[in-house]
Amino acid sequence: MKRIAVFTSGGDAPGMNACIRAVVRSAIYHGVEVYGIRRGFNGMIKGEFIKMDSSSVSNTIQKGGTILKSARSKEFMTPEGRQKAFEQLQKHGIEGLVAIGGNGTFAGANTFYQEHGIPCIGAPGTIDNDLYGTDFTIGYDTAVNTALDAIDKIRDTADSHERVFFVEVMGRDSGYIAMPCAIGGGAEIVMIPETHTPIDMVIDTLQNGWKRSKTSFIIIVAEGDEEGHAPDIAAKVQASIPEMDARVTILGHVQRGGSPTAADRMLASEIGIGAVEGLLNGKKNVMAGIVNSKLVYTPFLDTITKRKLINPRYNRMVEILSV
Ligand code: F6P
Repeated sequence: MKRIAVFTSGGDAPGMNACIRAVVRSAIYHGVEVYGIRRGFNGMIKGEFIKMDSSSVSNTIQKGGTILKSARSKEFMTPEGRQKAFEQLQKHGIEGLVAIGGNGTFAGANTFYQEHGIPCIGAPGTIDNDLYGTDFTIGYDTAVNTALDAIDKIRDTADSHERVFFVEVMGRDSGYIAMPCAIGGGAEIVMIPETHTPIDMVIDTLQNGWKRSKTSFIIIVAEGDEEGHAPDIAAKVQASIPEMDARVTILGHVQRGGSPTAADRMLASEIGIGAVEGLLNGKKNVMAGIVNSKLVYTPFLDTITKRKLINPRYNRMVEILSV
């Protein structure tokens, strides 16, 4: 393989730049030319290719976001869009791809491989940590630490004003961000899509807490929880407990930004190298991930169809630690 390309797609995540850097430098190390594709699959369709060298990625390992920009492409979901992307790759002589993104990115790459046969290796870049085939995704550790920092601050005001705070965190349909925020942030309750926490249970926990002289509470709500978003849940609880002084904070996109933690830089670097070396060793249509400290390659189909489970022990931890 003489020339490959790297791109970022879907929601950005801290550590994507560290991964781009690792891809670029390991390609050069192995004597392979490397191009960056700007704006994900949209840029692939439009031919936004830039030749990269070692200095293209200087001074980027510590930066949040993605220097290649990202997008969620509607056009790539159509066969016509994928055909245009294929023609652009051929025009630029690209023989292999490294796709940094989440399950939407890998679903697109999987279909693209079936139709056009361009080898592609995925690097799991998403704050959600919802990908099967890797213990952690690039950006997850940073996002959790950003959220925890905010929750610590919220706790100060919750304590001063003796309030109940409903804090909503991202994660799409997974509770991976919510769980360490609850345990590490000392929350009384965690509401995640993987486990059913009915509103009545929230009300009981609050009332029992007051009986035990607790005066402030933090409830972490994953955005995908089946009881709804934090404002709806808070309103329902408030209706049952009129004396409660409740506030809602939705952390939102603050969780996607910022300089990656050391753990994310390490993970991104290891996976970036693993993706390039996988391509050079003939792997295709798989995601590079780290499971139990080992580099593994998991078929795209598994990464998008199999669900990574949250350890049920963690729910019990929240219960025990909030007694
Ligand atoms: O997948 C990352 C993520 O931040 C999810 O946690 C969230 O549901 C979604 O992206 C938000 O997407 P957007 O930035 O397009 O609003």
